[in-house]
Amino acid sequence: MKIRSILTAALALLLATGCNAQNKQENTNTITQSNNKTMNKIVIFFSHAGDNYSVGNIEVGNTKIVADYISEITGADQYEIVTHKYDGMAYMPLIELAKKEAADGELPPYEGAAPDLSKYDTVFIGGPVWWGTYPQVMFTLFKDIDLAGKTVIPFTTDEGSGLANCVSDVKKAFPKANVTKGFSIYGHEVRTGKAKVEKWLSSFK
Ligand SMILES: Cc1cc2nc3c(=O)[nH]c(=O)nc-3n(C[C@H](O)[C@H](O)[C@H](O)COP(=O)(O)O)c2cc1C
Repeated sequence: MKIRSILTAALALLLATGCNAQNKQENTNTITQSNNKTMNKIVIFFSHAGDNYSVGNIEVGNTKIVADYISEITGADQYEIVTHKYDGMAYMPLIELAKKEAADGELPPYEGAAPDLSKYDTVFIGGPVWWGTYPQVMFTLFKDIDLAGKTVIPFTTDEGSGLANCVSDVKKAFPKANVTKGFSIYGHEVRTGKAKVEKWLSSFK
């Protein structure tokens, strides 16, 4: 079973790397404007740098790499959902904490203010799959934004679950948005996977 294999591999990773992982996430969640003049798209994403399954202790999270590809290719601005709750956590304790958060429907706070999305008509939403859906902190932000009438394009990075429940959970959170099909890519593949992201994005042109 998927989760069981994640946990097994995680244990191996934990033993191999020790428990001293550092989360080096440094980005703030202010809106970052791209150089491209297209101003009606934004990527809202969460990404966890640090100790992770399959990729080891990474300085830049897998989803952030995909978010950066999207901005580079489409000119979309960015808003990163930031929390320091998981800073420096090793993979196994994070797995357990995230499991409990999801089970309890916890809504951990994010840093800073929610973005003003009034000028955007297209919103990419991306994050890792954690226990079958997006990390709970993303749902905290979802409660603070209104995407009615906007085109919402979900994407995930994962290690086997694909989009899991992310698209349906985005639809539930934003019933008045036009939520498209969604895109997923393995986290361990993103650093060599720009062409896949490009191919996916070409379907919107
Ligand atoms: C707490 C936690 C839970 C995870 N749960 C799943 C899961 O249910 N299914 C899956 O395919 N991958 C799961 N993964 C793997 C991540 O989705 C994958 O490594 C992702 O690319 C991480 O993206 P990030 O670096 O942007 O945070 C989990 C990882 C963590 C840390």
